[in-house]
Amino acid sequence: MTPRPRRILSGMQPSGRLHLGNYVGALANWVKLQETHECFYMAADWHAVSTNYAETAQIRPYTREMLIDWLAAGLDPRRSTIFVQSSVPEHAVLHLLLSMIVPVPWLERNPTYKEQQEQLASRDLTTYGFLGYPVLQSADILLYLADEVPVGHDQLPHLELTREIARRFNHLFAEVFPEPKPLLTEAPKLPGTDGRKMSKSYNNAIYLSDPEPTVREKLRTMVTDPARKRRSDPGNPDVCPVFALHNVFSPPTTIERVNADCRTAAIGCIDCKTLVADEIVGRLSPMWERRKALAADPAALDRVVGEGTERARSVARTTLASVNAAMHL
Ligand code: TRP
Ligand code: SF4
Repeated sequence: MTPRPRRILSGMQPSGRLHLGNYVGALANWVKLQETHECFYMAADWHAVSTNYAETAQIRPYTREMLIDWLAAGLDPRRSTIFVQSSVPEHAVLHLLLSMIVPVPWLERNPTYKEQQEQLASRDLTTYGFLGYPVLQSADILLYLADEVPVGHDQLPHLELTREIARRFNHLFAEVFPEPKPLLTEAPKLPGTDGRKMSKSYNNAIYLSDPEPTVREKLRTMVTDPARKRRSDPGNPDVCPVFALHNVFSPPTTIERVNADCRTAAIGCIDCKTLVADEIVGRLSPMWERRKALAADPAALDRVVGEGTERARSVARTTLASVNAAMHL
């Protein structure tokens, strides 16, 4: 007998089209996990409301764009359950029930709570819902009895809180929830075209949905080692953001060659960038193909998400029944 595959759940807030940084930071890992785990992947649109309640009109189109990027990147609805949080109302019910047992100080001492309020100082994030953000996230995870949660470092406090909430529930009522473990995604920070961290808000991102000429043009004009002014000047790959892209996307032989030849000016930046552009284009082109197929069948996305939602709901309903029984409700 082979053991039941471990179950994972992860989520992403819809914030529009995904870029290469999102891909290497999370999505590529999600795609790979399909080979070893039973996967639930959720568009966290309610979480998006917690920080964007003043402009909710974007959330629906952003969700759609993100889901198309997921499928284009290789999330496979035959293997993974892909769904939208707000279509599974059980998340809200479990959030409410958990909120009854979560002490407010647990939420107030969460480091991301204060950090986000400072970072997004122009928005009023003193709301009840924003304080409860990690309770909603806990409900997302516990509803599927997930064994593991693939996340980046920034989400570790939320995971720890989820485990504390699971323990408290199990102790107060009955052993319903396994304690989910974080599956840390060791992702290199990807620089954008200006050398800063790739980010939508810096306007320096290469998007999964950019067509080939755009990708090549963005790379052609990307910043390099600023000290390397002329073709004959030797460069320093250690400070060059283009080299950071090589490190992620190129095979070891290319990385070694660029690393050596840049320092002796044996390779020029134009050729170096063409090499990395070819690698990135190679990685993106299967996504362009899948995107074309999706565009040719506009109902396909709704079908996929509809089926995912049904599968998610049936698991969620079963868990909620155990929760209600444990709480004598
Ligand atoms: N808070 C996560 C983020 O901002 C998104 C998220 C929502 C999530 N629900 C989740 C991640 C459940 C993992 C599990 O990235
Ligand atoms: Fe950067 Fe490549 Fe130019 Fe060296 S050759 S400075 S690694 S772009």
